[in-house]
Amino acid sequence: MAQKKSKKTSRKKPSTFSNLLSPITIGPVELKNRISLAPMNETFSGVDGETTDQMISYFAARAKGGAGLISTGAIMGTRQASLFVWTRNLYCYHPGHLQGLTLLADRIHYFGSKACAQMTIGFGRQGHSYDHSLLAPAPTAGLPYELTLEKAPNGMAPVLNMTEYPRGTLAGQMTRAMTIDEICSVLDMQLAVVQTKLFTLQIEGKVKQNFAGSWEREDTRRELWKR
Ligand SMILES: Cc1cc2nc3c(=O)[nH]c(=O)nc-3n(C[C@H](O)[C@H](O)[C@H](O)COP(=O)(O)O)c2cc1C
Repeated sequence: MAQKKSKKTSRKKPSTFSNLLSPITIGPVELKNRISLAPMNETFSGVDGETTDQMISYFAARAKGGAGLISTGAIMGTRQASLFVWTRNLYCYHPGHLQGLTLLADRIHYFGSKACAQMTIGFGRQGHSYDHSLLAPAPTAGLPYELTLEKAPNGMAPVLNMTEYPRGTLAGQMTRAMTIDEICSVLDMQLAVVQTKLFTLQIEGKVKQNFAGSWEREDTRRELWKR
């Protein structure tokens, strides 16, 4: 007589990641799973912070791979911030930048993932500029960012040691304190916030590209900010 299979051996082991592949809702957005691409600046943007084919292919491949959420690396939300980037970053302070960002979001959606835009108004004293005569706008003056080789992230020290131009990676520029006017700059701050809103709304598919014409209108900005 065939032996009955023991219940104990046939029972599936509970997985630590049992929810990993199930959907989750964050605010108004539902993700198809809990796999998320961390924001990493892949330095594939163009020299003017524009989206490139290489970048779109890179993110599309991750979306095709199945991640529920794809985040961009830091997107500089003001022109001033864009002057102090680490090699290259995406920019979003001008309507022209939105064309490429829309394409990027569309491509991510095509593969069933949701897109997240990581907006920033600047890196402060960690900012780097190719123009070393510029002082990096930061909370405190005269305080450059410095990273010693010993404190470099794992595996980075040999790479940093090889470079003949270490200033861009190991030491930042001298800083200058931002003026109160700059800090309060309604224009820059609002633009950053509104642009985040616009991009988010686009991502959710609620707003198409038709806002570009009224971009400069204060009432439109205010109205969008309230949403
Ligand atoms: C090449 C690279 C670029 C990164 N760029 C960003 C970035 O633009 N924004 C950000 O918030 N974090 C950035 N990070 C940090 C990552 O999002 C993440 O927090 C870090 O790699 C630690 O992840 P882990 O805890 O899974 O190892 C970057 C990391 C790497 C390796």
